[in-house]
Amino acid sequence: ERDKSTLFTAEIRAEIDAHIAKYPPEWKQSAVMPALTIVQDANGGWLTTELMDDVAAYLDMPAVSVYEVASFYGMYDLEPQGRHKVCVCNSISCLLQGSEELIEHVEHKYGVRPGETTEDGRFTFKEVECLGACRHAPAVLLDKTYHENLSPESLDKLIDELE
Ligand code: FES
Repeated sequence: ERDKSTLFTAEIRAEIDAHIAKYPPEWKQSAVMPALTIVQDANGGWLTTELMDDVAAYLDMPAVSVYEVASFYGMYDLEPQGRHKVCVCNSISCLLQGSEELIEHVEHKYGVRPGETTEDGRFTFKEVECLGACRHAPAVLLDKTYHENLSPESLDKLIDELE
């Protein structure tokens, strides 16, 4: 059996166990998404192959299935990230309410295109699918916090506050 990576600590396993406990034992693979979130958070916001392999082994599932989940959902990142993540929704409601303007603004002001990280490492800029906040479009997910009804100015203010 392969060794677990050093990041896959007892503490992390305990956090994952809390999710596994919500399902019958034969369904522990249902915890794959929270498990990936837990290891991603512990690793500065991105998933290494090694960590995905740890999750696969821990949940007794094929590694390839874990990779599939991790590449399908926009909240997982497979490359090193900035200290923060600024995710602008580009689905229809937000587009109609000006998310394009937000995206262009960030591109010009901070010199990053979607998927890129600012030179100072402060944030990674992402375009994402509907965040479920369409009623108050345009919406942005900043790390784990949702912000709604944004204008370029109010988004700037949020970005300015990032360390
Ligand atoms: Fe942007 Fe739904 S379309 S939050």
